[in-house]
Amino acid sequence: MGFEILKHVPVLVEEVMSFLRCEPGRTYVDATLGGGGHASEILQRTAPDGVAIGMEWDEDALSEARKVLMPFGDRVKIFRENFIRLPDLMKAESADGILLDLGLSSMQLDKEGRGFSFRGDSPLDMRMDQRTAQTAADLVNRFSSEELEYIISHYGEERWARRIAKAIVQEREREPIRTTQALRKVVYRAIPKRFHSRRIDPATRTFQALRIKVNEELENLRKILDTGWKILRRGGRMCVISFHSLEDRMVKETFRTLEKEGEMRILTKKPVTPSEEERKRNPRSRSAKLRCAERI
Ligand SMILES: C[S@@+](CC[C@H](N)C(=O)[O-])C[C@H]1O[C@@H](n2cnc3c(N)ncnc32)[C@H](O)[C@@H]1O
Repeated sequence: MGFEILKHVPVLVEEVMSFLRCEPGRTYVDATLGGGGHASEILQRTAPDGVAIGMEWDEDALSEARKVLMPFGDRVKIFRENFIRLPDLMKAESADGILLDLGLSSMQLDKEGRGFSFRGDSPLDMRMDQRTAQTAADLVNRFSSEELEYIISHYGEERWARRIAKAIVQEREREPIRTTQALRKVVYRAIPKRFHSRRIDPATRTFQALRIKVNEELENLRKILDTGWKILRRGGRMCVISFHSLEDRMVKETFRTLEKEGEMRILTKKPVTPSEEERKRNPRSRSAKLRCAERI
């Protein structure tokens, strides 16, 4: 049985737009197009001649973004690429702003068959870019117990990582773990019942950890933070929205280093978070943190 696919609601829109100072004639990069929500705001605010360069590696998200951004014609250029390729794509061109809105879109989370969610039953896939080789099922059925424990503990911040890793290895000796529900059951059994939270599903952290590993999310963020700012003009700004403490820490520390080196000026001493009103309206915005820095 299917469930409703929610349109992705962009987070912290006004905050991002005010940091990016969108104006006609300027060029902005949206390195994580998703459903095109932020990009269409940028294009509206930079009319009639501002340009948006969009990157997205997920074919499904890309076709949604193409539809949403169609009215802007050739003011938008879209690339199906990993955002780490941004400096190559830009060659000698520069930009006035870059936006990174990390993680998953609601469309990816809700769509059956992608394996990101444990609602419904799907093959254990979790690849955002369908062209890459390794799925979550490959990882779960091939990695050693120690590797799985590290991933689940480090990326999922899951205190029961060792038990879960051992339970996965035990289960796959019986039968390979191929679906989201098969994995969910193993996690449920591995965590003692009295520690099952009522607030979040006990499998949430394990699923998040595997997704981060499958898509090399932290490695990609590391690379774009190290190189992306170089395509900014003086006064150009980089905004990063993250949803995970490891990502936020990486953004904070990179901005600090770049500030010490005299390359960037930090504009957000503390991360900007969604207002009470936005949290209520869009519960998925709750863990969002925005940081912004300006090239000097
Ligand atoms: C939170 S969504 C972005 C939503 C978008 N800002 C909007 O308003 O609709 C994040 C998107 O970034 C994409 N993404 C994540 N990592 C990427 C990468 N390394 N390269 C390209 N796209 C990536 C995901 O596929 C997803 O569609």
